[in-house]
Amino acid sequence: AEALRVGIAGLGTVGASVARVLRDKAAELTRQCGRDVVVSAVSARDAKRDRGVDLGAAKWFDDPVKMAQTADIDVFVELIGGDEGAARASVKAALEAGRHVVTANKALLAKHGVALAEIAEKKGVLLNYEAAVAGGIPVIKTMREAMAGNSVTRVFGILNGTCNYILTRMEAEGISFDACLKDAQRLGYAEADPTFDIEGHDTAHKLSILTSLAFGTKIAANDIYMEGISNISQADIRAAGDLGYRIKLLGVAQRTDSGIEQRVHPTMVPTASVIAQVHGVTNAVAIETDILGELLLSGPGAGGNATASAVVGDIADIAKSRPGFQHGPVFGLPAKELRPYKKAQ
Ligand code: NDP
Ligand code: HSE
Repeated sequence: AEALRVGIAGLGTVGASVARVLRDKAAELTRQCGRDVVVSAVSARDAKRDRGVDLGAAKWFDDPVKMAQTADIDVFVELIGGDEGAARASVKAALEAGRHVVTANKALLAKHGVALAEIAEKKGVLLNYEAAVAGGIPVIKTMREAMAGNSVTRVFGILNGTCNYILTRMEAEGISFDACLKDAQRLGYAEADPTFDIEGHDTAHKLSILTSLAFGTKIAANDIYMEGISNISQADIRAAGDLGYRIKLLGVAQRTDSGIEQRVHPTMVPTASVIAQVHGVTNAVAIETDILGELLLSGPGAGGNATASAVVGDIADIAKSRPGFQHGPVFGLPAKELRPYKKAQ
């Protein structure tokens, strides 16, 4: 079979890791996918910067939109970030040009996911986004593909690695909030603007995607009660501990009689509970359904390798798909059939 040609837009923490994994694991991926997977085009802002990875013969593009429209690629991988600008324009251009898209961009999907899904479904291409929610945890595949027939009643969890890393170290080592945040940035966990992490926006973006998958509704990221962790002090953490609790930033979505409730806020969880044992950059997602009962997934939630693992999994799924195959809908139901979101009163 012909090689799958991949274009990577964005060569930062995640993009460079994806390029590295595709190179280091090329032989294994060829065996698993039945064809080679090659990086044939790349784009970032600074053409001179050393990315610490050999990009081989990949063609350089200053403009990711031009790459999306004109490069010899089968898959456009968006790892730029942001809900407008180059990320939105290039993903839209790639889908309209009939190319498959893989993205880790939850901010983009929270705002424009349904519109982009409509284009992908019309064009018959895949829009894969496993890395956008909970890093390396395969929660999208689980909800989209492995839970047919289940009615979800609640989905909740720790969805931001930076916040969980900060809260864990503040409690375990007594280190200040600011020092922990700096380390999270240095390790590549935080968003380009870390306010998105610590004020809860990132958790809200991820939760809004899970809510759509869980309840078959349009994404409603603006209808989320949101409170971050920037006001949590050592004294709060100690007081919670004295009472037998630990503070975690949770995202919660549940079905109620009057509609759907979505909220993001610091929560006191019993120290002995499973969710309280989720430490550091690890994320956890609990899904409660009528048939399955309660499912808990946990694993690395941020960072180059964890995120690259999910992105490469999405690329491999495309490499394994056969021409002419009818792809399943992006958010579980066809975008046009997603129900309007009704907020709980
Ligand atoms: P970085 O800031 O490290 O990398 C962003 C990359 O995008 C850089 O290479 C930058 O170029 C490039 N870029 C920015 N603007 C443009 C533009 N206009 N045209 C072309 N390239 C551009 O971000 P991350 O790798 O951390 O994150 C990427 C995406 O993945 C984001 O959507 C993020 O939310 C998501 N994500 C990140 C995770 C993580 O742990 N870091 C985990 C899960 C998802 P240059 O290098 O030249 O400046
Ligand atoms: N900034 C995000 C986090 C990256 O810390 O969870 C993963 O989505």
